[in-house]
Amino acid sequence: MTVRKKTAIFISGRGSNMRSLIEAARDTEFPASIELVLANNITAPGIAAARDAGVKSAGIVGSSFPDRLSFDKVLDESLRSAAIEIVCLAGYMQVLTPWFVGRWLGRLINIHPSLLPAYKGLHTHRRALEDGVRIHGCTTHFVTPELDSGPIIMQAAIDVGVSENETSLAARVLEQEHLIYPRTLALVASGAARLKEGRCVLEGHSSAGSALVSPTI
Ligand code: GAR
Repeated sequence: MTVRKKTAIFISGRGSNMRSLIEAARDTEFPASIELVLANNITAPGIAAARDAGVKSAGIVGSSFPDRLSFDKVLDESLRSAAIEIVCLAGYMQVLTPWFVGRWLGRLINIHPSLLPAYKGLHTHRRALEDGVRIHGCTTHFVTPELDSGPIIMQAAIDVGVSENETSLAARVLEQEHLIYPRTLALVASGAARLKEGRCVLEGHSSAGSALVSPTI
């Protein structure tokens, strides 16, 4: 029988990546089970989507806390009382305190809509288009205190079309996010990807030897 790691997801908005994780974890062979969804925004549409999918979810109002550390302590307490082992950030748009990151180091992962270390922060697709990059994509990584800088677990790259705009590029990258995030969670939950001495160590995976060339020549 598969040992399943109890997992929580933090969101701030629509939660499409959250849905892809919940969907993947419906398979009882998947090495993680989604137990809890927490949002830092009570109007996040993902809260209802999680509930509709049968996952316990809640929004926590940030303004009722004196500072971010007090907020993160409540998050930590909720995770511990649900015996959570892994936390996935899925469009969670609030920077976590170093205290929280330290407590969950190696068990806290994020997805970011760019090929890190390029385009940390916001408006990644707009900035990539402004720069005229030919290849763009998304990254999953272990979270460390510095924003969008933790050891990389997986990446998916796409070619940037000549008539691409921010909306079309975002949609194509999001499609890839929905593929790599469940795979990333499976790698971390099974122990095949782990944080060791500041790097992500992968076991049992080799390069496919493929290249993406854009434009096609
Ligand atoms: C996703 O594109 C995710 O990569 C991004 O927010 C979006 C959330 O969409 N996250 C970040 O920019 C974090 N730095 P979703 O709510 O539909 O998953």
